[in-house]
Amino acid sequence: MELQNDLIIRAAKGEKTERTPVWLMRQAGRILKEYRDVRANLSGFKELVETAERAAEVTIQPVDLLHVDAAIIFSDILVVPEAMGLTYQMIEQRGPWFEKTIQSLEDVNQLIVPNPYEHLNYTLEAIKITKKELNGRVPLIGFAGAPWTIFSYMVEGSGSKTFSKAKKMLYTQPELSHALLQKITDTTILYLKAQAECGADILQIFDSWAGILSPDQYNTFALPYIAQICDAIQNVPVTVFAKGAFFAREEMGKLNCRTIGLDWNMDPIESRKLIGNNKTLQGNLDPCVLYSSFSEIEKQTKIMLDKFKGLPHIANLGHGVYPDIHPDAVRCFINAVKSY
Ligand code: CP3
Repeated sequence: MELQNDLIIRAAKGEKTERTPVWLMRQAGRILKEYRDVRANLSGFKELVETAERAAEVTIQPVDLLHVDAAIIFSDILVVPEAMGLTYQMIEQRGPWFEKTIQSLEDVNQLIVPNPYEHLNYTLEAIKITKKELNGRVPLIGFAGAPWTIFSYMVEGSGSKTFSKAKKMLYTQPELSHALLQKITDTTILYLKAQAECGADILQIFDSWAGILSPDQYNTFALPYIAQICDAIQNVPVTVFAKGAFFAREEMGKLNCRTIGLDWNMDPIESRKLIGNNKTLQGNLDPCVLYSSFSEIEKQTKIMLDKFKGLPHIANLGHGVYPDIHPDAVRCFINAVKSY
């Protein structure tokens, strides 16, 4: 299927584009009333993730309603630990919760490296349906969590401000930590490859809790596993977004991926120097700018775009869009990028 709008793919490959492409992390769900309507007819978030037709429907909503240059498949990074053997619940207003967590080598040994076509087939089906329904309008982004971020949920059992239980494991049980990280990595490689086989045009790795590690820990327990994933995926462009990993930008420039995502703390000009000219950069407007007036959103978006000017760039926020942002503010941001 030929893509009518392939701006993001071309930008990710480092090619020049007529204008800067734009999409938003967490654009599916969260801010759209149309998403909440679909979700209200089901038992909750998990049923939506596991019902391929409905997941495809909410994946396409931002393309129709916000006119972004890419869709991102509606799912969650936590489907991976679940497929490995730890089921989670998504608790309303509170977030994810795992009944069983990883504490010992025995726990790690009990985890499986699942065949994605067996244990994660609902997302693969959703990708196939989405590709068919998009009919080439825009590319589809597949994704997974980075091994360290998945590890932190599997050890901690829920969200946390500090993830101190997960970090404690890195310091006190490094061998166990590596065994778990390797198993997550093996699973993630199979899962991302399957997403590409089923039609995903770009793959993004979310390392949401990168910023809580020390630079040493990041080099030991996070980057080598991300590198394995990048090395294993050859047919589609890969984006690595490591939130808070400002200290690792130079190393990230050496990854075998096409695009590096920047959060809003990372200055684009400084990041370009550290990462080099061979990568496409993605980001990085502070999501909170979208709480301000339209004229301020336009002004801040232009300031951001100016800093990325001249080399391949995919416009985005510096992290996911917040649930209480008005869709019109998102539209204002998107239009500001498109008319730059
Ligand atoms: O980008 C998209 O719109 C595609 C779908 C997507 C979701 N989660 C749907 C979701 C993606 C890419 C994710 C990634 C994800 N999930 C990350 C990495 C990105 C980031 O934001 O740092 C993380 C850390 C998670 C784990 C997670 N999922 C948490 C902590 C929560 C609860 C808080 C929240 O974000 O709302 C979720 C739930 C979740 N995942 C929702 C959605 C739409 C909200 C659930 C609902 O509808 O009630």
